[in-house]
Amino acid sequence: MLKLLEGMIEPLPHDLPTSRKMRSHLFLAVIPLASASPFASHDSQLTIRDISDFPSIVFESRYRRANTTAPRCKSLPGDPDWPSDAEWDRLNRTLNGALLKPLPPASVCYPSSPKYNPSACSTLFTKAYYLDDPVSPAQQWTTGNTCLPAWNLNSTGNWNLTLTCTQGGFPVNSGHDFVGRNTGAGALSIWTHHLKSFEFLPEYVQRGHNPPYSGPAVRVGAGIQIKDGRAYSEKYNITLVGGSCATVGSFGGWLAGGGHSELSSMYGLGVDQALEMGVITADGRYRVVSAESEGRERELFWALRGGGAVSTYGVVTSVVVKAHPAINLTIADFSFAVQNSTPSTGPIVTINDTEAFWRGFNAVYAFGIPTVDAGGYLWTQAISTGNGSFVMQVKVQMPGRTIAETMKFAQPLFAKLQSLGIPVSSATITTMVYGAPRFEAEGPPSNMRFASRLFPRSSFNSTLFPSTMSAIRIAIEAGFFFHGLNLSPTVRMGEYSYPSAVNPVWRETVMHANLMRTTIFATSTAEEVAAAQKLLQEYMNAIREATPGGGSYLNEADLEEPDWQHAFWGSNYAKLVDVKREWDPLGVFWAPATVGSEAWAVDSRDGLKSQNGRLCRVGS
Ligand SMILES: Cc1cc2nc3c(=O)[nH]c(=O)nc-3n(C[C@H](O)[C@H](O)[C@H](O)COP(=O)(O)OP(=O)(O)OC[C@H]3O[C@@H](n4cnc5c(N)ncnc54)[C@H](O)[C@@H]3O)c2cc1C
Ligand SMILES: *[C@@H]1O[C@H](CO)[C@@H](O)[C@H](O)[C@H]1NC(C)=O
Ligand SMILES: *[C@@H]1O[C@H](CO)[C@@H](O)[C@H](O)[C@H]1NC(C)=O
Ligand SMILES: *[C@@H]1O[C@H](CO)[C@@H](O)[C@H](O)[C@H]1NC(C)=O
Ligand SMILES: *[C@@H]1O[C@H](CO)[C@@H](O)[C@H](O)[C@H]1NC(C)=O
Ligand SMILES: *[C@@H]1O[C@H](CO)[C@@H](O)[C@H](O)[C@H]1NC(C)=O
Ligand SMILES: *[C@@H]1O[C@H](CO)[C@@H](O)[C@H](O)[C@H]1NC(C)=O
Ligand SMILES: *[C@@H]1O[C@H](CO)[C@@H](O)[C@H](O)[C@H]1NC(C)=O
Ligand SMILES: *[C@@H]1O[C@H](CO)[C@@H](O)[C@H](O)[C@H]1NC(C)=O
Repeated sequence: MLKLLEGMIEPLPHDLPTSRKMRSHLFLAVIPLASASPFASHDSQLTIRDISDFPSIVFESRYRRANTTAPRCKSLPGDPDWPSDAEWDRLNRTLNGALLKPLPPASVCYPSSPKYNPSACSTLFTKAYYLDDPVSPAQQWTTGNTCLPAWNLNSTGNWNLTLTCTQGGFPVNSGHDFVGRNTGAGALSIWTHHLKSFEFLPEYVQRGHNPPYSGPAVRVGAGIQIKDGRAYSEKYNITLVGGSCATVGSFGGWLAGGGHSELSSMYGLGVDQALEMGVITADGRYRVVSAESEGRERELFWALRGGGAVSTYGVVTSVVVKAHPAINLTIADFSFAVQNSTPSTGPIVTINDTEAFWRGFNAVYAFGIPTVDAGGYLWTQAISTGNGSFVMQVKVQMPGRTIAETMKFAQPLFAKLQSLGIPVSSATITTMVYGAPRFEAEGPPSNMRFASRLFPRSSFNSTLFPSTMSAIRIAIEAGFFFHGLNLSPTVRMGEYSYPSAVNPVWRETVMHANLMRTTIFATSTAEEVAAAQKLLQEYMNAIREATPGGGSYLNEADLEEPDWQHAFWGSNYAKLVDVKREWDPLGVFWAPATVGSEAWAVDSRDGLKSQNGRLCRVGS
């Protein structure tokens, strides 16, 4: 029978060394069913018996809700209500043997681990090993840094933090989430990585959209990554809108949280691509929802598109998305710097007039408006390189334009920079089919935090633009790294869309940007982490104040975003909480800073706001 989650469900091992401080624990999570067909479907669902008669695994259901007194805290291994081995075995049989019980990958670095293997350990420092691992997130602090790759543990080298390896905040959905929404101590997590099915639908019709959608589409498994979608795009000569990094899941967290793309000023957000979704809800049932659904299922479809499906309403197994015509993307890349900084790519123009640098900086962002209005995307990053040196890298990205057209389009920017004393006259220019291999290099998991801002068009008007730019400049001068993306995913660009749950601010946004600074969370004390976060908030607050009516992109945000409910979802938040209560009243799904998550809190005592601790209801 079931094959859907060829991917897996993993409980926490009982047998790991557990430190006093960090005891692993279990969420009672939904057990999705699986299917032998390429997509989860009606013929392979859990039975009522599976769902109702599984005392250790609490499914939400109307049937049992009345009798369930939800416990205040989720269980941890060692708790009386932690499932017995026999119960795990039973679950494993239901899943056709797909249950995993993995150790953190860096356990190979620890002599106390049964998996100790120094040579395997050495590879962890260079590889993006989290991509194909069921328990590793991309940001290590989210697990509480309890089992970091640590080389030569017996030396007094740089890694003087922890000499033990415990399960901590592992395990997780393997993935890209930056703030620990894919991890949780004691969690039973569902690995969607292997849900790789793909079906081309040349003549798909969706009447719930306005106007109705009629045209090519594809039905993809939720584990498809951009690099997988690419091969199919080539085969069928189509474009599937996705994030800009080859390994991001195209149809899991990216779409659920909004999903911005290099094509957003043309085709809108990820949520605008979705025409229908297959989802397993907290009652253990598989459902197909779309704009044609009615009542609560229609609301679920709305919420899954921007409300952050991210461990909130259900497990998305497949999505039908629009297939656009194949399109080329042309990129003009250049850099300029004040004093002797070295950018990574593109020709660099170095000047020695600091004020000219900042005037050029403003000119670049002012050019963001004509760029997005022409369907383009302006990628930028600016950084202080010390001693009063700054460097700015710019990529003018134009979908559907040739090299000659793109260079012509960028001429007014070059002319403006020249008039400001920055003699930029050329760029490194490339053109390729959108989705062609790029940005492949990804390193091992990192350990950083940052914050996001969505800049409404008004913050670029003549009244607010100077103060907006000044707030950013001050942060860069203070040593923060600034990464801006100009894009304009208006409702019009998301043609044939059904209203979605993304923050309405997205529709007026002309720039999404991140402010970050490398803080070594692995080696910092709790006080240092708190101080770094305080500083980040201070500079972010100035940017927030300069951009009234803005928001924050939940997929690339800070867990400590002030009033995150409003910043991530704006006026949609209240309705999203209703949908969450309707579909998951017992809190089977939980992740930090997601809809309804205020009702619970992780008791993490490591100063990191990580997922390493017991999850309990807030209050009584
Ligand atoms: C290198 C890099 C580049 C990025 N580029 C972009 C970009 O260009 N545009 C952009 O918008 N964002 C981008 N992001 C951010 C990205 O959107 C988020 O990190 C997003 O959470 C990734 O989704 P995922 O499914 O790969 O990650 P995961 O960490 O697996 O999942 C993220 C969250 O979604 C939940 N989730 C995942 N799959 C499902 C499912 N099937 N059903 C229910 N819940 C699910 C997880 O439980 C978790 O809470 C980038 C991130 C990285 C690290
Ligand atoms: C719920 O409780 C009622 C009343 O006590 C009982 O009749 C019913 O059988 C219970 N249902 C379940 C599923 O235990
Ligand atoms: C689940 O069953 C499979 C097949 O029998 C087995 O290989 C695997 O180890 C089991 N998983 C757990 C966690 O026991
Ligand atoms: C580290 O030290 C322990 C205890 O002294 C020893 O048993 C072990 O072999 C050492 N490991 C390495 C990699 O040197
Ligand atoms: C692919 O699609 C593009 C855009 O529609 C079209 O111009 C091109 O001719 C197509 N190529 C092939 C090989 O069909
Ligand atoms: C993309 O550009 C290449 C040349 O660089 C060209 O051969 C191809 O036809 C273009 N494709 C589209 C869809 O415009
Ligand atoms: C600034 O740069 C110009 C041209 O590169 C050079 O001639 C001049 O000496 C520099 N001025 C200073 C103060 O370094
Ligand atoms: C800054 O300048 C000082 C003095 O010239 C020099 O010693 C130092 O290395 C410089 N720092 C950086 C980061 O370039
Ligand atoms: C810019 O936007 C702000 C906020 O909406 C508004 O108060 C101001 O009048 C606008 N200025 C211009 C010139 O449109």
